[in-house]
Amino acid sequence: FSETGYRLWMRYDRIENNKQLEQYRSQLQTINFQGHSITAQVAKKEISSAFNGLLGTEPKVTLSSSASLLIGTPENSPQIKSLITPKELLNLSDGYLVKTFHNKGQQQIVIAGLTEKGVLYGVFHLIRLMKTQQSLSALTIREIPSIKNRVLNHWDNLDGTVERGYAGTSLWEWHKLPGFTQTRYTDYARANASVGINGTVLNNVNANALSLTKPYLLKAAALANVFRPYGIKVYLSARFSSPIEIGGLKTADPLDPEVKRWWSMKVKEIYAYIPDFGGFLVKANSEGQPGPQNYGRSHADGANMLADALAPFDGIVMWRAFVYDDKVPDDRAKQAYNEFKPLDGKFRANVLVQVKNGAVDFQPREPFHPLFGAMPATPLMMEFQLTQEYLGFSTHLAYLGTLFKETLAADTYAKGKGSTVADVVTGKLDQHQLTGIAGVANIGSDVNWCGHPFAQSNWYSFGRMAWNPGLSATAVADEWIRMTFTNDINAIATIKEMMMGSRETIVNYMTPLGLHHIMARNHHYGPGPWVKDAGRADWTSVYYHKADAVGIGFDRTATGSNAIAQYSPDAAREFADLANIPDKYLLWFHHVKWSDKLRSGNTLWDELVSHYYLGVRDVAKMQSQWKAMAGKIDEDRFKEVAELLEIQHEEAKWWRDACVLYFQSFSGLPIPASYEKPA
Ligand code: GCU
Repeated sequence: FSETGYRLWMRYDRIENNKQLEQYRSQLQTINFQGHSITAQVAKKEISSAFNGLLGTEPKVTLSSSASLLIGTPENSPQIKSLITPKELLNLSDGYLVKTFHNKGQQQIVIAGLTEKGVLYGVFHLIRLMKTQQSLSALTIREIPSIKNRVLNHWDNLDGTVERGYAGTSLWEWHKLPGFTQTRYTDYARANASVGINGTVLNNVNANALSLTKPYLLKAAALANVFRPYGIKVYLSARFSSPIEIGGLKTADPLDPEVKRWWSMKVKEIYAYIPDFGGFLVKANSEGQPGPQNYGRSHADGANMLADALAPFDGIVMWRAFVYDDKVPDDRAKQAYNEFKPLDGKFRANVLVQVKNGAVDFQPREPFHPLFGAMPATPLMMEFQLTQEYLGFSTHLAYLGTLFKETLAADTYAKGKGSTVADVVTGKLDQHQLTGIAGVANIGSDVNWCGHPFAQSNWYSFGRMAWNPGLSATAVADEWIRMTFTNDINAIATIKEMMMGSRETIVNYMTPLGLHHIMARNHHYGPGPWVKDAGRADWTSVYYHKADAVGIGFDRTATGSNAIAQYSPDAAREFADLANIPDKYLLWFHHVKWSDKLRSGNTLWDELVSHYYLGVRDVAKMQSQWKAMAGKIDEDRFKEVAELLEIQHEEAKWWRDACVLYFQSFSGLPIPASYEKPA
């Protein structure tokens, strides 16, 4: 059979490095794995198939305390209880320890968790160490997840389509559920657990009320049963008007006693089918979705009503802050802040406000969302988009670990220098216990799950950075390449270089220097800077780039929309100051003259054109880097990536030519001679 990419980063093929293989074999001869829960069972199964595949042998199962691999919790394993100190277990939550002990010349590796979920994560860590060919001789690992709820958001519809999905249709076969659950659901759960993802919202935020009816709840329950052993909770997107649509009520007013009662009963019913149901994700009063504002109520009124229904069962509400409305005449980028900031402190304890990484909409690059750092009394959940709605779908190669990292590391200055977005999301900055991070899934029915073989890295890196936002994008890319493709040092270096530059390359040929939302209308694929008639201004491109004879860019300073004032003063000052603002955000915040000189010494026009040309050249560079991988990667995936890069190269030129020629019609300036030759 061909190598399809189905196995993601979970390929358990024999370790090719013989020396390493022999060492692991001698280090892992016997295993004492305690625990009988459903989670312990799947962890045992995983370790057994990993060892079988990677080592070609399985360690002998033993009850001996001197087993070379000792796994369990202090509760179920007396050996672990005696080896691990209470201090090491303090605040471990669902984390784990992986430690090497040396005793009378004997080596012993211990995987310990406080919970069986922790043990499962520890098992995946050991497997990762082996797949990336790390030494097991001196391990002192103590891992604790920095964010509590690490959740995928599937924008999957009940008819099997996926909104903004580019990897086939929905994974969920609604018509065969609950009776039939395919093994792929288990593989999905394994992949998620392997990177620490512990929740999944099954249905689109543009929700269909039917998903809360009994037949669909039973289908969701069947999925929850498959995911449960892997520590994954199921959540549902709730349509705010459900009490009317499926409940027969006249209103969905969150302050109406009948409405409250309806939601309480609905929640009770859900927990009868799914005892560990996670809660609701809600998109309200945005892009035409119903919400509390239809009744003159606030987002807090709506979220709190649902939160009260969920609280007795420990469920949570993830209430989205992605709101904008063309009836609101102000800059679209300002609306979420304007609506939510005044509600800070008004949400129930089991509500998270889920904020997209930037203020507009998952652009190739956006400055961090001004709500981060602005709502200290409310836990804010990060929402990233893994599916590449604005980054070339699953055709273009984009490693988004660098995008995630850029946002997480951004400084909000909310409590002085060093108040990063990551500190807001982990709850560290404002001491929140309830924390969360969401990734809009890029997963579908395609054989390789994500469409582009490299798109798998975005699922992977989302999980890894959700667990630990401190991880570097390079380190995560390195792990992923080793597990997905090869441990060959030269190949890793080349592929890593491709990945690390890939998102910047897309920024260069699509939206350099802070440009945004100039994609074609509706589908967002390909260039459309000329879009000016879309029924509403905030769906046009001209709204965002504002090119004219003088210059280009959205003035969000005090002379313009003043969106800049939504940031804390130190961050705002940096963005407002033309001498200080990084070029990458320039046109997001400023309308700049074509002839103005930038830091490089180039005029804005020349600089803009140079980015577009650089983007195309860098795709060509990726092509030649990938060509050199022939023979180092299996043929199927090699060919697939090579062909996709060819398309990407053509489309990068399309983007460059469309944008440069369109913007030239305003600037009236020539394309600098050095860029004129086609790449
Ligand atoms: C984008 C996307 C929509 C989606 C929306 C959201 O606007 O194009 O398809 O529904 O984001 O996040 O709610």
